[in-house]
Amino acid sequence: MSNTIVIGMQWGDEGKGKDVDILTEEADVVVRYQGGGNAGHTVVIGGKKYALHLIPSGILRKGTLNIIGNNVVVNPFRLLEEIKDLQNSGIEVTPKNLRISDRSHLTLEYHELLDSAGGKGIGVTGRGIGPTYFSKVSRSFPTGIRFCDLYYPELLKDKVTENVNFTNHMLSFYDANASMCSSRNILEQLLGIKDDILPFVEPDIGSLILAHDGSLLYEGAQGTLLDVDAGTYPYVTSSNPTIGGAFTGTLVHPHFHNIIGILKAYTTRVGNGPFPTELEDEVGERLRRRGVEFGTTTGRQRRCGWLDLFAAAYSIRVNGINKISLTKLDVLGEEDAIEVCFGYSRDGGKMIHFPTYIDRCKPMYVELPGWKRDISGARKPKELPKNAREYIDYIQKFLGVQIVRVGVGPGREQTIEFQ
Ligand code: GDP
Ligand code: IMO
Ligand code: MG
Repeated sequence: MSNTIVIGMQWGDEGKGKDVDILTEEADVVVRYQGGGNAGHTVVIGGKKYALHLIPSGILRKGTLNIIGNNVVVNPFRLLEEIKDLQNSGIEVTPKNLRISDRSHLTLEYHELLDSAGGKGIGVTGRGIGPTYFSKVSRSFPTGIRFCDLYYPELLKDKVTENVNFTNHMLSFYDANASMCSSRNILEQLLGIKDDILPFVEPDIGSLILAHDGSLLYEGAQGTLLDVDAGTYPYVTSSNPTIGGAFTGTLVHPHFHNIIGILKAYTTRVGNGPFPTELEDEVGERLRRRGVEFGTTTGRQRRCGWLDLFAAAYSIRVNGINKISLTKLDVLGEEDAIEVCFGYSRDGGKMIHFPTYIDRCKPMYVELPGWKRDISGARKPKELPKNAREYIDYIQKFLGVQIVRVGVGPGREQTIEFQ
């Protein structure tokens, strides 16, 4: 029996959803601890695609309990849509297999409008993430609204009114022509869905989690380099996808036996911000095409580049990662040669630590030979070409952490276990 946490080692979209789906076979409970509808986790089972944003990927396996932690920000309307979409695909979602902390904060229409008005420089997803965390942390500028507040319509009315007034001021600050919101509409809509949502609300997720200690799976959203503290601030999200977020995001502290870092065999980034190994040429274009690198949440093109092991080593230190799942190795199958970044230089000198600002850093590369073969049918390490095995060995030796799994396609079965 063991507890496992899955954490993205790059800028998100590493393939966490697929790994969580695989690991769910061994877990009783799957927990999301941070982020919100900005996450987009695609899982492919038997050729059928499922896109999850708020609900843990564990929902796709029968018999799993799925928990949305107190530091996940949730748009209840989008949550109900996600529940309906899953149910229409034949997936069971009921208050028995999905629980939401009553301390989780609500993302509402005004947060999303404000996000779209003010978050353009970062290239946000527009899902209201920054403004919802702002409401939460500011406490009184004005106060955030939590799921537990749905039990008290009068209190809810005051809070919604105050929030809408504040946001409308902010919206006119950003854009005089921005569409304003109406507190009456929002309140009416909220009261309209209250009875659908409240059965999922849980006053004590901590006890539920601890009752399954030894069989827990925590699903990180985003990635280490998008962490508000550890990442490439300000081009980050507003939560802590890194390991500390797992504890504040659920208010219990299980021991994680497996801290699994999800590392894509190359790098991608959506939105703005520095990206030292970015490839703005035909190689980047090929990775995008072969890896189908388009956002699950916004449909935006993902920027593509070579694997950055300097950043990966930093991610291992931040999270205490003790196992790595290497994803999307198949995508490199057309390359003659593959570059891997082992360090950064700045102003002519080699960086010793992963720096706070990476804007002016230049990647230092080692070139490894490609394998020029389709490996999507491989299921065992020995079925991989020699050069692909050497690529894996190079990463493993450089990082000093065991690679336990390698992805060779989006399907659940397109996975090679290295034990
Ligand atoms: P997440 O946000 O970390 O869960 O990742 P996303 O789901 O946003 O993006 C990963 C994409 O790659 C999804 O479309 C997955 O179906 C797909 N994927 C995952 N693992 C592999 C793999 O090993 N090979 C290929 N070709 N695709 C993969
Ligand atoms: P998953 O869980 C990739 C990026 C956005 C933007 C920045 C801030 O699928 O890996 P936000 O809306 O959070 O305020 O946007 O973070 N971003 C992601 N990029 N994968 C994600 O989630 C992301 N969630 C946010 O593109 O640059
Ligand atoms: Mg994603």
